[in-house]
Amino acid sequence: MKLLCTGAELADASSRGFDVDGQKLLAVRRNGRVYVYENRCPHRGVGLEWKPDQFLDPSNSLIQCATHGALFLIEDGECVAGPCAGQSLTTIPCHEDDQGIWVTL
Ligand code: FES
Repeated sequence: MKLLCTGAELADASSRGFDVDGQKLLAVRRNGRVYVYENRCPHRGVGLEWKPDQFLDPSNSLIQCATHGALFLIEDGECVAGPCAGQSLTTIPCHEDDQGIWVTL
């Protein structure tokens, strides 16, 4: 397991990018829960963010790919609009405890 950050370093309705041993990840917190995915759009295989740590649409309710605008559900990574609709981000198992947010790679 790898520690991404402390819980306080990922505010609700916000996102952050991470590089863990060369693997690019994104983490989002929504309604208190943390979700972690590979930072890789299923459309072209590129990173999703438009600037560092910015992975969400303007309403902070969906993950958005900056390249062609695909939108993904925060809760399960499913693409619900855009060129890769029906495909999904790759889920990274994670959990949070008193020390912070952990991922299993
Ligand atoms: S690369 Fe993400 S929508 Fe095209």
